[in-house]
Amino acid sequence: MKVDVHGLTLKYGDAVAVSDLDLAVNEGESLVLLGQSGCGKTSTMRCIAGLETPASAVITIGDQTVFDSGRGINRAPNKRNVGMVFQSYAIWPHMTVFENVAFPLKMKGRKKAEINEAVHETLELVGLDHLAERGASLLSGGQMQRVALARSLAMQPSVLLLDEPLSNLDARLRHRLRMELRELQLRLKLTSLYVTHDQDEALALADRIALMQAGRIVQIGEPHEIYANPKSASIAEFLGVDNVIPVTPEDTTCVQLTATGQKLSVEPYEAAETLRLCVRAEDVLLAAGGTGDVNALPGTIVSFAFQGSTVAYRVRVGDGLELDAVQMKSAGPLFGMNDAVTVSLPARAMRVLPAEVAA
Ligand SMILES: Nc1ncnc2c1ncn2[C@@H]1O[C@H](COP(=O)(O)OP(=O)(O)OP(=O)(O)O)[C@@H](O)[C@H]1O
Ligand SMILES: [Mg+2]
Repeated sequence: MKVDVHGLTLKYGDAVAVSDLDLAVNEGESLVLLGQSGCGKTSTMRCIAGLETPASAVITIGDQTVFDSGRGINRAPNKRNVGMVFQSYAIWPHMTVFENVAFPLKMKGRKKAEINEAVHETLELVGLDHLAERGASLLSGGQMQRVALARSLAMQPSVLLLDEPLSNLDARLRHRLRMELRELQLRLKLTSLYVTHDQDEALALADRIALMQAGRIVQIGEPHEIYANPKSASIAEFLGVDNVIPVTPEDTTCVQLTATGQKLSVEPYEAAETLRLCVRAEDVLLAAGGTGDVNALPGTIVSFAFQGSTVAYRVRVGDGLELDAVQMKSAGPLFGMNDAVTVSLPARAMRVLPAEVAA
């Protein structure tokens, strides 16, 4: 069901963890809340679940208002019909897999036959039906997290809240469970809010990403939109853009590298007090000799690292300015330490952005 959060402010003592935040998760949508550690993601989720009491907010789930500071409404967590999966597995080790998933249904007073069917159905969904009778403490981390997921799904929650559920798992398993989760999400058309600070996970799992900084949402959009058009340099940097460089405006299609005074042609950009040039390492081109390109700068290789099919270089292009460049091994000559190179920066691959955006 649709979730609507309006004007959410949460304080811990005097410290503001979430600040006048608006957020809507559409029915059947996977919305990912992405942001740095401490920006307020878990706090936002706990407010939706009813585990924290906001200073102010109106929160609705489906057509039910679960919190309204103005009207004094505050429904108990178990009356909100939300499912939750956390980073820590939070399953009961003394129970079997079956009992773990059945427990919340028993608490709700469901009939035995009904519970039986629901538990086996959800265990099958997460690929654990064959382990139903095993003690939960005898599972791997990935299996425990599947149990936690099954337990939430069995309740048929209006919304599924997932707070970094994969971050305790090793990289391979994390990747596999991520794909499985996405498949379940799409197949069951779950309404879910997924919290992470991992941009790859966010890009893979989201219908839309809401980017959070300092208790506010600063940008919201589909993964490919956010990836291609971050609104600020700090968002770009968080999304893994390798080169974020201070620049000074010349005119609407030209900027000066602040560190070296060199001029670059760029696509039209919006004026702002503090500007940064943002360019991904894979868009920085290196050549052995002159290229005749418009934005060509002389540079020197200061370090390099093999990464399988690509090589990562760090290139000094002037006093106090180094750029990251990544080249396909097949794309040209390999360079070594102190080699002189020509660095080309194609205008279409660069964005001139304000350092920060106000929420
Ligand atoms: N129980 C608490 N008491 C006081 N301050 C808290 C409490 N819980 C969180 N905070 C503070 O509120 C802010 C937001 O915390 P929150 O846990 O929501 O961040 P987060 O985005 O989930 O971070 P992470 O990615 O590290 O989990 C932080 O500055 C944190 O220190
Ligand atoms: Mg958190």
